[in-house]
Amino acid sequence: MNPEPRIIGFCCYTCAYAAADLAGSMRVTYDPAITIVAIPCTGAVEPGVVLAAFEEGADGVFIAGCLDGECHYKSGNLRAKERVRALCAVLEKLGLETARLEMFQVSAAMATRFRDKATAFAARIRALPPSPVRRREGRGE
Ligand code: FES
Repeated sequence: MNPEPRIIGFCCYTCAYAAADLAGSMRVTYDPAITIVAIPCTGAVEPGVVLAAFEEGADGVFIAGCLDGECHYKSGNLRAKERVRALCAVLEKLGLETARLEMFQVSAAMATRFRDKATAFAARIRALPPSPVRRREGRGE
């Protein structure tokens, strides 16, 4: 049996984090393997931060931000989408499945959409073996 996965969700404070918070207030639950990290904007998530999360043993990482046209820093979410695409290519070269990284977008009011997207992502990660980085470090047990 696979160990409990470790999933990091970088969530834009004004939208995705607020949606996750609203989900909590509404008692709309999502996968407990998800650790949410509040960030000012998805555009602030440097590629090195995502790679560091994998290096530290994350089995999956998602970045959740504002809807198109609603980023409070104008185009941070668009930049983040491009970075995720580029990072998927890097993951592939490193031998990690690209399914381990995803970006999705929600508004602050979309608690159930947040739950649905986060839960679907977590289910995908649970279907994968532990990250090879985690196994290599002897943390897969
Ligand atoms: Fe939310 Fe930029 S402020 S993605």
